[in-house]
Amino acid sequence: MKILITGASGGLGKSLKKVFKSPICPEHQEMDIADKKSVDTFILKHKPDILIHTAALVGIRECEDGKEKAWKTNVEGTQNIVNALKKLKNNCYLIYMSTACVFAGDNEKYYTEYDVPAPKNYYSVTKLCGEIVARQYENTCIIRTNFVPKEQWKYPKAFTDRFGTYLFADDVAKGISEVIGKKEKGIIHIAGNKRMSMYGLAILAGSKNLGKMTLAEYQGPPLTIDMSMSTKRWKKYKIGFSK
Ligand SMILES: NC(=O)c1ccc[n+]([C@@H]2O[C@H](COP(=O)([O-])OP(=O)(O)OC[C@H]3O[C@@H](n4cnc5c(N)ncnc54)[C@H](OP(=O)(O)O)[C@@H]3O)[C@@H](O)[C@H]2O)c1
Repeated sequence: MKILITGASGGLGKSLKKVFKSPICPEHQEMDIADKKSVDTFILKHKPDILIHTAALVGIRECEDGKEKAWKTNVEGTQNIVNALKKLKNNCYLIYMSTACVFAGDNEKYYTEYDVPAPKNYYSVTKLCGEIVARQYENTCIIRTNFVPKEQWKYPKAFTDRFGTYLFADDVAKGISEVIGKKEKGIIHIAGNKRMSMYGLAILAGSKNLGKMTLAEYQGPPLTIDMSMSTKRWKKYKIGFSK
């Protein structure tokens, strides 16, 4: 069974590499998802049975300031992958990684797979459009989730009033392997069983000397404030369960 992971050098990709045995992990230059020819060449050469598509432009500010690049990477990049898989004609199983940020998140709501998305910023718009593109391919599962690597927070402060049902990247990788085991299709939420603030998450991840901040101090593109999710199609996980 040949597994190909896009974005394998990223936060989630690193965790996926620990879960799957000898996956094919093209670097950005080897297979630039925004470049149709590069995607066709790599996929038709390696003929994966399973493709986990994590590569994306994920910075909210970066996507807002570079809309063209964000669209080319997150939407057209997904289209390039779908088109290549259609050409491959081996019924490769596609996992498309999406986000809790496709929802508005104005209240504490615990969004399920059946709730209506309402993205707040351009990153989330491109991820939702990527979902639509992924659905052009029949053998697909769209996984929405929310995670951080279990390590020191990369910023000096974290929000005390932005929430989610977060997991660590290793937990999500394990969850993805379980979804693949069942060959689920459609949309699946991989969510934690506990709502917490980003600050609480950062402390749980082992951060030291971390400052607190609130959204009142934030200036930038609109954010999904409460990214809490639930699931009607899958199960919830306890953060840190995978270790
Ligand atoms: N992090 C979160 O909180 C979160 C939450 C929910 C969903 N997600 C989704 O989960 C996925 C993985 O997120 P992450 O946090 O692991 O992202 P990340 O750490 O920023 O990694 C992104 C990966 O995509 C690659 N990439 C970007 N543009 C590319 C291109 N044109 N061609 C090929 N590769 C390209 C990057 O490679 P280079 O660095 O070499 O460019 C990197 O390996 C994304 O689809 C994201 O939308 C993330």
